[in-house]
Amino acid sequence: MFNYPDLSDLHQRMQRAMAFSERQVAAMIEKYPDQFPMYTRNGRWHLAGETWTNWCEGFPGGMMWIFYKRTQEPAWRQRAEHYSRLIEERQHDRTVHDLGFLFWSTYKRWYDLTGDEAIRQTVITAGRTMGMRFKEKGQYLRSFVADDSLFIDIMMNVGIVYYAALQSGDKELLRRANQHCLTTRRYLVRGDGSTAHEGIFDLHSGEFLRQSTHQGWRSDSSWARGQTWALYGFTTAYNFSHDSRLLETARACADYYLEQTSFEMGAPFGPGVPPNDWFAPQSQAESSAAAIAASGLLDLSATVQERHASEKYRQAALIILHTLCGADYLADETPGWEGILKHGIYHLNKGLGVDESVMWGEYFFVEALDKALSLLTSAEV
Ligand code: GLY
Repeated sequence: MFNYPDLSDLHQRMQRAMAFSERQVAAMIEKYPDQFPMYTRNGRWHLAGETWTNWCEGFPGGMMWIFYKRTQEPAWRQRAEHYSRLIEERQHDRTVHDLGFLFWSTYKRWYDLTGDEAIRQTVITAGRTMGMRFKEKGQYLRSFVADDSLFIDIMMNVGIVYYAALQSGDKELLRRANQHCLTTRRYLVRGDGSTAHEGIFDLHSGEFLRQSTHQGWRSDSSWARGQTWALYGFTTAYNFSHDSRLLETARACADYYLEQTSFEMGAPFGPGVPPNDWFAPQSQAESSAAAIAASGLLDLSATVQERHASEKYRQAALIILHTLCGADYLADETPGWEGILKHGIYHLNKGLGVDESVMWGEYFFVEALDKALSLLTSAEV
């Protein structure tokens, strides 16, 4: 017999977590105005920490837009606009592969709430800038690391390329988005649905050479956050392209996450929460991967046609949220902790942000809460 958590108090737990998230973000910007911390150190936002790459500056503004949408409080809108404007110039940034993370969370939400044409143009420009990363030899959007490098993370940033292509009728941009997804599917997603973090290509011939990793354990292992970028990103890519191969891939990646992670009471890190890498001999919880999985699984549940599969993904997302809203993860009972979610990991191999709050974990947790709260009434759970 399976022993899954009782979700009868989930609605209440999520409302409490959303209210706590608002308080933590308000306190963060009061204490660190106009700053973009990426991870905490001993629970305090760490401003001077090494960033490796700058990809998180959209997440505070993104949370503020979600709070504004839910509360309609003018103060949240004013803060959300301000924190979005602080990153406006990044729409032209060609040094990172993260313009989806930056602009989908901020300017796309802003546009959706206001219909402001100038804001839509910023989203399109960011998508066009991302499209410039395309390597014709190899057929992928290159990572920030080097021309020969493809990251699984970029699946979360290809959505903005699709958006820009479809909004502006740019067929070449659409080809680049489609080809990037098919290349990632071919070389980074394995037959069992697991994913590699990175692929390395020969720049002269475009030949795929090998799988690799930065944040996972080994080249041939499964870094949990990469798996969640894949399940979420392929779902988004399918919703833009309607290419059934991309939905199959999203499902394979989601099913692998579900197979590898215990959802039962007594699971090592709590039901639905993975380690940093499923293959690593010594493992620690990675709560940000769980938050991304919850948000992506809710999208996948809304995308698949089969009722049984849709219910399976929805239920998994709700179990994850139930766990993350508990005292082991939610920091509301940890005095002095400045983040929302505890036990995230940024870069284990570099020792950055290990067992801490991480800014994208906060954002995808709030996003998943928002989606789930919109879906549920307490009576339905
Ligand atoms: N570089 C994105 C991540 O750490 O998942």
